[in-house]
Amino acid sequence: MKKAIYPGSFDPITFGHLDIIERSAKLFDEVVVSVLANSSKTALFSVAERVSMIQELVGKYPNVAVDSFDGLLVDYAKSIDAQVIIRGLRAVTDFEYELQIAQTNRVELPELDTVFLTTSLNYSYLSSTIVREFASYGGDISVFVPEQIIPLIRAKYKKL
Ligand code: PNS
Repeated sequence: MKKAIYPGSFDPITFGHLDIIERSAKLFDEVVVSVLANSSKTALFSVAERVSMIQELVGKYPNVAVDSFDGLLVDYAKSIDAQVIIRGLRAVTDFEYELQIAQTNRVELPELDTVFLTTSLNYSYLSSTIVREFASYGGDISVFVPEQIIPLIRAKYKKL
C-alpha cells in the first residue's frame, strides 16, 4: 500500500491543486491532502474552513482523505505512515524552493520520498495568492476555483 501526502496551505484550494489531487489519486493507493496549520503566513481561511472546503471537493475520490498537520512534515509523515510527499511544480521558479524542502525532508527522513507532478499547462500560472488578489478586487475567479467555494471567498472580502 503506497500512502502519499499532498501537503500545502490551500488558502484557498484552486483548480491547480485539484488537478494534482486527481492525478495523484490514480498513482497512489491512498492520498492524504493535508493543510498546514502552523504557517507563519496570515491566512484568509481557518484550517477548519480549508479542510471542510477540500473535503467537499474531493469526496468523489474514494482513496483521498483530508487532514491538517502542525509542525514538521517529516514528523507528520511518520505519524500517519506515509511513504511519499506529493508536490506540484508549475514553473522553474518553483524548483529551487521545492528542491530545498525535498532534500531537507529526505535528510531528516531518508525513507520519505518527494514526487513532483508537473502542473497541467492550463494551470501553470495559477496560485492561491493570485486567487486572493483577484478576489480582493472583486475580479472574476471562476476560472481559478470551483464554483462551490466562490461565495465563501467572496464573503471573506465583504467582511474586510
Ligand atoms: O502550499 P505551500 O504553502 O507551498 O506548502 C508548503 C509546505 C506546507 C509543504 C511546507 O511549508 C511544509 O512542509 N511546512 C511544514 C514545516 C516543515 O516541515 N518545514 C520543513 C521544510 S524545509
